[in-house]
Amino acid sequence: MKKIAVMTTGGDCPGLNAGIRAVVRSAIHHGLEVTGILRGYEGMIQNQFIPLPSHAVSNIIQRGGTILKTARSEQFMTVEGRAKAYENLRTNGVDGLILLGGDGSIRGIQQFLQEHDLPVVAVPKTIDNDIYGTDYAIGYDTALNTVVQAIDKIRDTADSHDRIFFVEVMGRDAGMIAVLSGIGSGAEAIAIPETRTRIEQIVQVLQRGWHRKKTSMIVIVAEGDDAGGAYKIADAVRQRFDSFDTRVSVLGHMQRGGSPTCFDRVLASRLGVAAVDALVQGRRDIMVGVIDNKIAETPFETVVARRKEFPYDLMRVAEILSL
Ligand code: F6P
Repeated sequence: MKKIAVMTTGGDCPGLNAGIRAVVRSAIHHGLEVTGILRGYEGMIQNQFIPLPSHAVSNIIQRGGTILKTARSEQFMTVEGRAKAYENLRTNGVDGLILLGGDGSIRGIQQFLQEHDLPVVAVPKTIDNDIYGTDYAIGYDTALNTVVQAIDKIRDTADSHDRIFFVEVMGRDAGMIAVLSGIGSGAEAIAIPETRTRIEQIVQVLQRGWHRKKTSMIVIVAEGDDAGGAYKIADAVRQRFDSFDTRVSVLGHMQRGGSPTCFDRVLASRLGVAAVDALVQGRRDIMVGVIDNKIAETPFETVVARRKEFPYDLMRVAEILSL
């Protein structure tokens, strides 16, 4: 192996640049040349390959977003698109690929690997932290801190005006951000896709708070909750309990930006180094992750077939502490 490629795919998140830096620096350490592919699978098809010498990744560890950009690719869903991508990898002399992506990107590369031969190692990233095979995905910790800081600010105004705020956080299919930020910000109630949300239960919790002389409260709603988003849940609650003025705040894509926390920088650095180690040592079609604070390698088919266990015990912690 002489030359490897690195790219970022799917939704962005803080810590991707730290991961790219780690891949480039550790590849150079192993005597490899590195090329970056812009805009993920789309750039692979459009032949958007750029050289990544060591200095190209200087001063990026602290930056959010991704210097390699990211994009969705309709063309990569086609046999012809994947064939074009492979042809470009060959002409650019790529012997191995490291992708920083989520489970959707891993599914994409699995399809590609059924048709073409290339050693590939994936590094997990998503603020949703719902990828099997790692305790933490890059970006999750930073997003949590962003959400908690936002809710702290919302609490100030909620308290001044004696209001209930329904705060919608990201998580189309996953409630990890909602639960952890809920505990971290002392939310009164949390609605997540993993459990059935009952409006009556939320109303009871808020009534209890009211009886206990709370003058403001926070309800966190994961965007993919089965009862709907924050607006819908706020409306349903308002119809049954109107002792408070209520407001809705949807945090949106701010959760995907910003400078990564030290935790995410270290995680991205460890995983980038582990991914290059795996490639150099001849392992392929695996995702590197961290389990119990140790590097763990999981085959692609397991990553996409298994569902990450949800920490239901944390919902209990949140409930007990919301008195
Ligand atoms: O990164 C995952 C995620 O944050 C989901 O929770 C969210 O629904 C989605 O990205 C939104 O991504 P986009 O707006 O880029 O489609």
